Amino acid sequence: MHAMSRDAAGPWWHGVLYHVYLRSFADSDGDGVGDIRGLIARLDHLAWLGVDGIWVSPVMPSPNDDWGYDVADYCAVAPEYGSLDDVDELVAAAGERGIRVLFDLVPNHSSDRHPWFLASRSSRDDPKRDWYVWRDPKADGSPPNNWVSSFFGSAWKLDDATGQYYLHSFLEAQADLNWWNEQVRAAFDEILRFWFDRGIAGFRIDVVHKMVKDPELRDNPPASESDSFIERVWGQRELHNADQPQNHAVIRRWRTIAEQYPDPRVLVGETYLFDQRRVGAYHGRDDELHLTFNIPFLWSTFEAGAIRDVVDATTAGYPPDAWPVWNGGSHDISRFPTRWCGGDGRKIRLALMLLLTLRGTALLYYGDEIGMGDGAVDPAAARDPLGRRAPRPNAGRDPARTPMQWTAADGAGFTVPGATTWLPIGDAAACNVESQRGDPGSVLSWCWHLIALRRASTDMSGGAMRFVDGTPGGVLAWRRGERTSVALNLSDEAAVIDGVGGAVRAGTRREREGERVEGTLALDPWEGVVLYE
Ligand code: GLC
Repeated sequence: MHAMSRDAAGPWWHGVLYHVYLRSFADSDGDGVGDIRGLIARLDHLAWLGVDGIWVSPVMPSPNDDWGYDVADYCAVAPEYGSLDDVDELVAAAGERGIRVLFDLVPNHSSDRHPWFLASRSSRDDPKRDWYVWRDPKADGSPPNNWVSSFFGSAWKLDDATGQYYLHSFLEAQADLNWWNEQVRAAFDEILRFWFDRGIAGFRIDVVHKMVKDPELRDNPPASESDSFIERVWGQRELHNADQPQNHAVIRRWRTIAEQYPDPRVLVGETYLFDQRRVGAYHGRDDELHLTFNIPFLWSTFEAGAIRDVVDATTAGYPPDAWPVWNGGSHDISRFPTRWCGGDGRKIRLALMLLLTLRGTALLYYGDEIGMGDGAVDPAAARDPLGRRAPRPNAGRDPARTPMQWTAADGAGFTVPGATTWLPIGDAAACNVESQRGDPGSVLSWCWHLIALRRASTDMSGGAMRFVDGTPGGVLAWRRGERTSVALNLSDEAAVIDGVGGAVRAGTRREREGERVEGTLALDPWEGVVLYE
């Protein structure tokens, strides 16, 4: 079933993508840190699962102030992860299995130890000075404007040696590049080509909405009630430091490069915006991003009404032909089996069903396929700078980044027994790939089944989507394509739904598969089905 061509349904990136947080996926050399060779050794799992592409978190050399999102060399591989030869082997080995490899590109900022920044910082007259955003202090010595860092505090750091401030939208160690500078744009053109030439199928682009800043660096206004919760936390609306019109020109330029390859490369953006009309604009006229992250969905509650609202706002906000992305987790947020489902297996199965049956690309985070929840991380031992810098220090994003649970053995199959892992391993005895693979009733078997069904059905992979109205509260139902319906009961009450029917092709209660539903569909609490007429 998995070998079926995707052509009828659309390009490969309309399928199922899988986010490999490399540091925590598979460790081939026992140093407690995942690496490229470890990933290569686990490709068979991903091929069996049926994913079309993987997005690998940053592999480039980095001081790891923000775990790779602080790049010190954009055209190399960090030794702890492997080498360029390993990348070539990864691309080839994944390709043999029909899997494309996307890398993570971090263009908004580099590490303050990148040679570009070291040069830029060395003197006001350095040719690279203008590659970053430098400004004089105000008359009283304070920062040039009121912008705040996403990681708390002012977004400006005074460089004593040259007497100017530089901008850092995240950590001080992550200096913002100046995207008004043509040399910066040209340097990134070359970075894209460098990886595309090696067979990298595309990029997930970090904070893609932020790159170009207001040329006058005006103050942001205070946040108001109508702003996103994150802007209310920061106390200001991101009016001048995000989503500037010129951002789109940079992305169009990259799209032109991506289109120059015979198997056109794919641009996926981390569009961290809460208004889907603004996100939708990043698809351009099909000349900007191919895929955009749907942050309002990620932050939604797991309730029928809230999910319906987000899906409707996505449909309304995106251009008609744009293809949405659905993901329930990432390395930046609590895992959905914990956040949405509280570890309840029925809810975890429904959440996977939601991700894999909505019209759009399903983006799984490593471990989602086994319903892996957040790991326990002692805040005192947190590795995430965000947690350590918070007003009340906490484990930050670490619980979502603990090692993949492959087996119940010491080291969880992630690393060799006895190794010290960079983050603690979660409850691998209770939840791991190996034990779930042999169990037809497991979350993993369910996930595999949904992906297989999706690949075999043009309705499910490419069909138009329309909600069925008038369903009971707590229930969501929609039609996909010609003959497929999906119904989910996201409530503690049993429900009866009129107007959907057919044979049960997939059911969270697997024993229902094959049953014919005529006229009315009865669902238990937290039960879902896919029906085929
Ligand atoms: C993105 C990444 C996050 C990182 C931040 C700064 O949001 O996903 O992990 O900390 O950008 O690069």
